[in-house]
Amino acid sequence: MKSVIVTAFGGTEVLEVRDVPQPEPAANEVLIKVAACGINYADIMQRDGLYPGGPKAPYGAGFEVSGVVEKVGADITQWKVGDEVMSFCSSGYSEYVVAQSWQVMPKPSQLSFHQAAAIPCQYLTAYHALLTLGQLSEGQTVLIQAAAGGLGTQMVQVARNVGATVIGTASTAEKCALIESLGCHHPINYTEQDFRAEVKSITGGKGCDLVIESVGGDVFEKSLKCLKTRGMLVTLGVASKQPQAIQAVHLLANNWIVAGMHLMAYTSDTVAMASAIRDLHTWLMEDKLTVIAKHEFPLEKAAEAHQFIEDRKSTGKVVLVP
Ligand SMILES: NC(=O)c1ccc[n+]([C@@H]2O[C@H](COP(=O)([O-])OP(=O)(O)OC[C@H]3O[C@@H](n4cnc5c(N)ncnc54)[C@H](OP(=O)(O)O)[C@@H]3O)[C@@H](O)[C@H]2O)c1
Repeated sequence: MKSVIVTAFGGTEVLEVRDVPQPEPAANEVLIKVAACGINYADIMQRDGLYPGGPKAPYGAGFEVSGVVEKVGADITQWKVGDEVMSFCSSGYSEYVVAQSWQVMPKPSQLSFHQAAAIPCQYLTAYHALLTLGQLSEGQTVLIQAAAGGLGTQMVQVARNVGATVIGTASTAEKCALIESLGCHHPINYTEQDFRAEVKSITGGKGCDLVIESVGGDVFEKSLKCLKTRGMLVTLGVASKQPQAIQAVHLLANNWIVAGMHLMAYTSDTVAMASAIRDLHTWLMEDKLTVIAKHEFPLEKAAEAHQFIEDRKSTGKVVLVP
């Protein structure tokens, strides 16, 4: 089968499509015939060798897919051949993947396979960052950086669904129009407007209850200053590839909370996961969650797809199709 291998750390040229043996599921695994491979910004950071605790090259790229169960291991009782699923996995940019049973979730019937490939990582991160960790609630105000991205477009809707006032930043007028259509009350084109000044004006000088930050560098520093006293900033990523040091004394002086969040620490929290999946189904049924997944590339063009995201041309999810 075809699989995309990161041959060494580096730019998009290190992604190579290779013929590799199709994996066999172990007793506690299922084999999934992949319909869509989700691309995440973490894939780019891992390829660059910048992801803390990431795999050593060479390795198979990607960790999120949607598809159909092709074969089940001897101990599997909850999945059967033909089930439509979405799943975490390793070597996700492949025609087939194996996944342990806890990594697999049923694909909601309202979602296409392209859309379902955006749920394991991006929807669950959006949910747990805003609600499980951030405790965002009705009447509060949240600032979401990179709001038109894969994660961002889902965050905007989750925040709106719980009744928060949503402020989102993006780099173009088109991206701002998209997030506004998804329920962002205050889209800010940060290339034309100073987002800190805008937040100040929107919140009457008070600042936000919660800030979701995934860019790093100067944006991190400025985002911190958008918090109200006792507000929380959740740091999720460093898309700028410039990690920022935190001055502890600023946290003390302003009663600010800074929390790091990595999704994998939440997947074993059965209560929080059940709540995320229950709300996903409710919002899909009530038409309160739209998964934007309009960019697709053939598996062989993984390098082009990575470049497309790094050039900030994407909105919503980008998938590879085997
Ligand atoms: N901690 C976790 O568990 C977790 C899980 C999922 C995602 N994340 C993080 O969340 C962020 C979003 O992930 P995603 O997969 O949904 O990606 P994405 O948002 O679809 O793409 C990244 C976006 O970041 C913005 N950006 C700002 N500065 C950038 C720069 N210097 N270079 C490139 N892009 C820049 C761009 O939007 P504009 O053009 O609008 O600026 C770009 O479209 C990433 O930092 C990712 O690592 C973390």
